[in-house]
Amino acid sequence: MNIYEDKVIDESRQGEVLEINTPARMGEGKKMFLESYGCAMNFSDSEIVASILVGKGYSTTTDFHEADLILLNTCAIRDNAELRVRNRLKEYNIAKRKNPKLMIGVLGCMAERLKSKLLEEEKIVDIVVGPDAYRDLPNLIESVEGGQKAVNVLLSLEETYADISPVRLGSNGVTAFISITRGCDNMCSFCVVPFTRGRERSRDPESIVNEAKILFEQGYREVTLLGQNVDSYLWAAGKAKKELNDIERQNAFSFANLLEEVAKISPDLRVRFSTSNPQDMTDDVLHMIAKYENICDYIHLPVQSGNTDMLTRMNRGYSREKYLERIAAIQRIIPDAGISTDIITGFCGETEQEYTDTLSLMSEVKFDFAYMFAYSERPGTMAEKKYKDDVPADVKLKRLQEVIVLQQKHSAERTKQGVGKVHRVLVEGVSKKSDERLYGRNSKNTVVVFPRQNFKKGDYVNVLAKECTLATLIGEAV
Ligand code: SAH
Ligand code: F3S
Repeated sequence: MNIYEDKVIDESRQGEVLEINTPARMGEGKKMFLESYGCAMNFSDSEIVASILVGKGYSTTTDFHEADLILLNTCAIRDNAELRVRNRLKEYNIAKRKNPKLMIGVLGCMAERLKSKLLEEEKIVDIVVGPDAYRDLPNLIESVEGGQKAVNVLLSLEETYADISPVRLGSNGVTAFISITRGCDNMCSFCVVPFTRGRERSRDPESIVNEAKILFEQGYREVTLLGQNVDSYLWAAGKAKKELNDIERQNAFSFANLLEEVAKISPDLRVRFSTSNPQDMTDDVLHMIAKYENICDYIHLPVQSGNTDMLTRMNRGYSREKYLERIAAIQRIIPDAGISTDIITGFCGETEQEYTDTLSLMSEVKFDFAYMFAYSERPGTMAEKKYKDDVPADVKLKRLQEVIVLQQKHSAERTKQGVGKVHRVLVEGVSKKSDERLYGRNSKNTVVVFPRQNFKKGDYVNVLAKECTLATLIGEAV
């Protein structure tokens, strides 16, 4: 039985669920400027925020000079992410001096981390709202209109915004994000996310599949399912994971099930997802990827470190061997899959040997791509409480630089392996470097560029790669 009937969310009803005391069109004629920092989840959340306020009469603008309301959806993952936001707020100071009625709101992880302290530290901020409180924004705006500053940083055990149809912001009309879980229960010792985004909860699969269907009908051809740890997605009629007994857990709707339902919408809808977690990624998921052509052969599997003692201090829940076993499983079940990772250098107590183990793991796997960071201590995390941030800044950065150089070598090798092969490319737009070329990605997530001819955005084109740069394949349609 297919549990997903063709039930399409009626978009004209957007905003109706947004209840409460505010007048239906409080924002009539007003413009909001929304800016997102950090991860894809934040970009996706901004689309939910836009939907909530469009439902109240606001329209969006891409020019902050003409905005009545500026919202910054912030990231707190590393210190420099917060610094960037604080610098941006200085720029808005000038805008606010010109227009004293301009309202400024800080959303997201930095809002959640700093709470009302943010109002004291950044005087121009009027609203502070955490990731689970966006439905309250219309009320908070009203408070500010009434002359008060407003804060809502309540975290929720249930909120998934499942009933809200996001307003797609800055979209290319081809690819879109869909959030499937919120929060994180993993408690990696270095990470602030469990504190800023709260407990993990899964979204009703029916609403996810409906959202993907609507996107496909609107012409989108790729969806990326988002969660801090997609492999822990589990739906049992809204019951919390902790409450399930073994049988209920086995019968619950898993991430592999969800992938399949989204993939079945159409063979022309590509499905991607992020992020996989080495602790939880099962062979079921890998088999599902192998089974459906349109589930992309690409896995982002953050390793963080190649040393088991270090991974234990990081509270990652796997060893070097277990991670390499998961990589072997990917390569066995999905031959030629693209694999990327995240790496941190200079975490607490990182010895030269532990660092070298990271380099050797990288050389063993040869990732297609990596996001690499120097450790940045975050207040309130387990690492801050338990370990000393004792690797000197220059050592962290030197190690980071070496890791980047090694990764560039591996990326180049991996890209080169695509030369001489035909790639099915989903066209995302015109190449930034030349109007005469289009760009898109293959299933493995490698960017492919080729002559435009009569192809257009949203087309699938088979491209023979003839040459490459470090991370891009260049070819011709065949
Ligand atoms: N599971 C998440 C991880 C979010 S954080 C996901 O969906 O991607 C993204 C990456 O930031 C982490 O994998 C880690 O490599 C890095 N990171 C997290 N906390 C950090 C810190 N305190 N300092 C440096 N890097 C950090
Ligand atoms: Fe952070 Fe680890 Fe979750 S990196 S988001 S606590 S999986």
